[in-house]
Amino acid sequence: MSSDYDQWLSFAKQLAQDAGELIVEARKTATFDRNYKLHHELVTSTDIAVDTFICEKIAATFPHHKILSEESFPELDVDSLVDGVPIWVIDPIDGTVNFAHGHHHVAVSIGLFIGSTRILGVVYAPFLAECYSALRGKGAYCNDQKLFVSAASALRNALVATGFPYQKASLPDLIERLSRVLHACQDVRRNGSAALDLCWVAAGRLDAYYETVKPWDMAAGALIAEEAGARLGYFLAPQVAWPEAVNGEGLLVSTPALYDDLKALL
Ligand code: IPD
Ligand code: CA
Ligand code: CA
Repeated sequence: MSSDYDQWLSFAKQLAQDAGELIVEARKTATFDRNYKLHHELVTSTDIAVDTFICEKIAATFPHHKILSEESFPELDVDSLVDGVPIWVIDPIDGTVNFAHGHHHVAVSIGLFIGSTRILGVVYAPFLAECYSALRGKGAYCNDQKLFVSAASALRNALVATGFPYQKASLPDLIERLSRVLHACQDVRRNGSAALDLCWVAAGRLDAYYETVKPWDMAAGALIAEEAGARLGYFLAPQVAWPEAVNGEGLLVSTPALYDDLKALL
């Protein structure tokens, strides 16, 4: 099975890089339209095209695997899942607002889990030429460089990232939480890609990250952070909406030494 995993990881890395080329090309040629899901959530024609591209490649290569993807297959019928079936989890563009505004903080995220276990994750940032990857038990990498979380142990010196949902209704609570964190830590970043936030914790560029996100935002990055030595857990009570391996409700990921203090604060 582990040689399967190695092959799946190589496949996912190549796929993420091919998808990344589509993203770079779409922006270079400005060939994308802007639309809005649920009236306010930006989705471009490139999100859809890249999602379709990735899902078609996976379906053609692994016809018996399942897919959960933000744009094409956003629902997962948990009851229909046979034990042991691999599930690919795709965010074609994580950082759509950045993409549409000409920023470079954009990623393709491809994760795979089986049952309650995250098996592999690839997060490719095409404008930064950084390919983050991890295989369970084998460490995390950026391109060929092994990743380790920072040594941060004091909240006062910690750089913490978070993000905000498109829906504004929950903002008062989020701002209150943000205020507590901002008062206690060195500073806060809102970079606009949850997948990259998780990879940046893995790379030691951030000391912690928290947010409520969807499975496709975190499936790959969560494993990359864990494999680099981060502690992963939740600041909200567990929800039952998604399988445990892709539950992004109240996600908290940090250096091991910061985790308890941050959780208490949140
Ligand atoms: C968003 C980004 C952002 C996070 C949002 C996500 P999208 O994903 O990851 O950083 O704060 O919660 O929805 O819409 O760009 O794929
Ligand atoms: Ca996303
Ligand atoms: Ca997306």
